[in-house]
Amino acid sequence: MICPSPHADPAASRIATDDGSVAGSSGEQYEARLIDLPTIDSQTPDAIGAITVLEAPPFEIKRIYWIHGAGAGEMRGHHAHRTLCQILVAVSGAFEIKAVTDTEEIRFMLDTPRRGLLLGPGLWRTICALKENSVLMVAASATFNEADYIRDFDAFLDFRKDLREMRRNIGGIDQR
Ligand code: TYD
Repeated sequence: MICPSPHADPAASRIATDDGSVAGSSGEQYEARLIDLPTIDSQTPDAIGAITVLEAPPFEIKRIYWIHGAGAGEMRGHHAHRTLCQILVAVSGAFEIKAVTDTEEIRFMLDTPRRGLLLGPGLWRTICALKENSVLMVAASATFNEADYIRDFDAFLDFRKDLREMRRNIGGIDQR
């Protein structure tokens, strides 16, 4: 299933590499990567299933919520965050997550509870359930704050432009 994307040019779309690291065409590193979560598989015949652990994440978790009840092919997201960091885990079923910049998008497949996707701020994201009754758990670095959302794609592009200029200026200062 291909979920629709905000960038019209399909050439701007790519799939995350196996190690989950992502670099933009400009060489810029985006804070969007897959992380393997430690999993303890049952060692004895009478133990059931497996335990996967999200421990000591790279930010302090202030909120956990989960997305559920979506039908296959249904989408959420369509926004970016100014400061929020998140880790997304498909605890059941499967999701395709698109992390979008002003120039391209990277597609991540979350189809195992053994993996998480670390998503930093400044990335437009779309979340598409690939299977009925999939459940996506999200650990977030802050409590809910509507002011942290960018919900308009053009406003997001402006935000990215400002960010780029700020980084360029900081780079200029560093080189002095
Ligand atoms: P939102 O994050 O906008 O989800 P999506 O972009 O996937 O639709 O959240 C949908 C609604 O739920 C929105 O009105 C805000 C509200 N909400 C909370 O009140 N608290 C939360 O922690 C979250 C994630 C959403």
